Amino acid sequence: MELKEAARAVRENAYAPYSNFKVGAALLADDGRVYVGCNVENVAYPEGTCAEAGAIAAMIASGAHRIVEAYVIADSPDPVPPCGGCRQKLSEFAARDVAVTLATTDGSEFKTTVGNLLPGAFDAGHMDRT
Ligand code: THU
Repeated sequence: MELKEAARAVRENAYAPYSNFKVGAALLADDGRVYVGCNVENVAYPEGTCAEAGAIAAMIASGAHRIVEAYVIADSPDPVPPCGGCRQKLSEFAARDVAVTLATTDGSEFKTTVGNLLPGAFDAGHMDRT
């Protein structure tokens, strides 16, 4: 399934009774497969998880290692920007030039990259003196 369709479909399954803001994420991984995730909220609000985090967890649980392309969709006025934590999570498993498409349910898209979403990302190289 195309990334766009996969993200749009999984968004329908989001559990978002507190924000009423459903998000879907789809990742093409280095094994050629597509992994999806949606946000899963919790009455203890900080325990909720983002769509991107769910898709990354599915990818890793299935044995894939790297993100080749990403797509995130929500019913937002403008293409939804991933939160700071998700930018860091994406950069753990993707090269800086990996394409990320941010989309709205009514068809707007904004194409960017993992590197543009998180300039100056903290990575393992910053711990070289340990
Ligand atoms: N959310 C995501 O799942 N991904 C994003 O990129 C932005 C925000 C979720 C978290 C929460 O369930 C809801 O959207 C409102 O913040």
